[in-house]
Amino acid sequence: MTPKVLITHKLLPEAMDFLGSRVDAELCPEKDVLSGADIISRIRDKEGLLSLLTDEIGREIIEAAPRLKVIANCAVGYNNIDLGAARSRGILVTNTPGVLTETTAELTWALILAVSRKIPQAHAFTRRGEFKGWKLNLFLGVDLQGKRLGIIGFGRIGRSVARRAAAFEMDVAYYDPHRLGPEEGGTYRVTYLPLDELLRTSDVVSIHTSLSEETRRLISWEQIGLMKKGAILINVARGPIVDEEALAEALENGRIWGAGLDVYEREPQIGARLLERDNVVLLPHIGSATYETRLKMAMTAARNLVQGLRGERPDNLVV
Ligand code: DGY
Repeated sequence: MTPKVLITHKLLPEAMDFLGSRVDAELCPEKDVLSGADIISRIRDKEGLLSLLTDEIGREIIEAAPRLKVIANCAVGYNNIDLGAARSRGILVTNTPGVLTETTAELTWALILAVSRKIPQAHAFTRRGEFKGWKLNLFLGVDLQGKRLGIIGFGRIGRSVARRAAAFEMDVAYYDPHRLGPEEGGTYRVTYLPLDELLRTSDVVSIHTSLSEETRRLISWEQIGLMKKGAILINVARGPIVDEEALAEALENGRIWGAGLDVYEREPQIGARLLERDNVVLLPHIGSATYETRLKMAMTAARNLVQGLRGERPDNLVV
């Protein structure tokens, strides 16, 4: 029998076609953010669930799905899923690693450049017709060449960001609980630094770690207080890794030069203090948002789902 699955949000057409006859799919009603009740009311008879990172798949949902075998999350991050609850029921959880690495690294650099050179402000100024002639002090930014980029979390995306730093002739340091051996460190031309030292010495700090209980608010008042005056903070990982109030304060009092954020502590809400600031570039969680990459993510999630339902080991098994 064709397995019944719940798809929380419509995928790109190619992925919907792939699922086509392989599953008997029910699609949740179109909403920006689905509630637990939206999912619970549809999941009772389903063997598979294809979710997005905005769907909070907690214990309550998992317990409401006695037939559930696979949760295929269409994201590399899986902090939205209660892994303990899934594991205790023997439900497979999958993600989409690898396919979004370079795209997210590219967006990281877009943010670094946007913040260091005030691109959004200069663009808005020009569009408003305020450009009346070259001026020596118009939109002065900060250079990157010869400065230090400090990367927090040296997994796939962190490494990809590091590789691109060579083009900007930056010195690169990283912090990660898993320290590279000397040979690997040499390949990436990076230096390991303890977190405090990385924060104290980096001109640009970029976050690429996953969200877990260890990394929640990893960057709070104390850590932001350690950052160089005039440094830049970039977060394209997960919002709750940074204490937004502490960051807003540092941006307000000029402790740091600026910040570039793609993710937020209470996403999709953005704190009023951040919204008021000119020295923070705010994006709507588009790190992986290119057509090519979102298609790869959707196809990867769809394949993982079908593999799990067929009793095969999915390519990207988390638990
Ligand atoms: C992910 O896949 O976890 C990313 O945040 C999506 O851009």
